[in-house]
Amino acid sequence: MATLEESIDTLWERRGELSAGDGEAVAAVDEAIALLDRGEVRVAEVDERSGEVVVHEWLKRAILLTFQLAQMSTIELGPFEFADKLPLKRDYAAHGVRVVPGASARRGAFLDRGVVLMPSYVNIGARVGRDTMVDTWATVGSCAQIGDRVHLSGGVGIGGVLEPPNAVPVVVEDDVLVGSRSMITDGARVGRGSVVGAGTILNPSIPVVDATTGEELSRGVVPPWSVAVGASRRRELPGGEFFLPCVLVLRRLAEGERHDKAALNAVLRTHGVST
Ligand SMILES: CC(C)(COP(=O)(O)OP(=O)(O)OC[C@H]1O[C@@H](n2cnc3c(N)ncnc32)[C@H](O)[C@@H]1OP(=O)(O)O)[C@@H](O)C(=O)NCCC(=O)NCCS
Repeated sequence: MATLEESIDTLWERRGELSAGDGEAVAAVDEAIALLDRGEVRVAEVDERSGEVVVHEWLKRAILLTFQLAQMSTIELGPFEFADKLPLKRDYAAHGVRVVPGASARRGAFLDRGVVLMPSYVNIGARVGRDTMVDTWATVGSCAQIGDRVHLSGGVGIGGVLEPPNAVPVVVEDDVLVGSRSMITDGARVGRGSVVGAGTILNPSIPVVDATTGEELSRGVVPPWSVAVGASRRRELPGGEFFLPCVLVLRRLAEGERHDKAALNAVLRTHGVST
């Protein structure tokens, strides 16, 4: 019997012929979304041996197929009306997740125990780790992988990657603080324990520079245990002198050290749910 992965890949090959009435296709895609929703599979993960991000493309394909197969429905909530194809996540209290009114997450996103969603949004395929705070107006895009004990501050934008289909999800590793209104997109990565200053723009085109040596460390990757801020670098271009963004690693923290501005306030994270 074909594995679920093989079934999804076969459906993807014949996606032009599929319709919402195709019960077998709907069932296979729904099974994949349910696995994502329960956190039993994930779209991307960091390979422990190589340290590289491994993307499970078949799960991204399952998410794209669910958009194709699902039908629009109207949802009414008091005076509010919505029209969408995908259902929302449910049963938060049973899973030890606190969700403040105004927050929503789509089914097929996984929120681990202890997650707090302030009025924010988590899209399908995203994974948010244990005890992570998604603060007000933060958005976690499709398939983004957010670690444990992370703080995504107010207004942070974590990009989603369903298009183009070969895009690598954003990875924010455990114990990171992302400062207010930062934008982390397109497969950018923040290493464990780092603090990203408010208003930082990070994507795979943005150089990450060591402030001590001036060395360009990477494009789009903040190394673990770094304190990094958005900065600008001078560029001479035919049209004149310009200042393009970069990310500056101001200093390194010792492994396991918590930046004093990144201390978590436990009282904001209590759930009343024993885990
Ligand atoms: C990145 C951050 C942790 C740095 O704090 P710090 O280690 O105490 O460093 P300092 O405040 O001494 O700043 C070091 C330098 O970086 C600059 N800087 C600090 N934050 C910056 C930011 N977000 N963007 C650009 N430059 C920044 C400072 O102006 C300073 O420059 P100077 O050396 O010329 O004086 C902090 O500034 C920050 O942005 N925290 C996140 C705040 C936030 O969004 N919290 C959300 C919950 S409310």
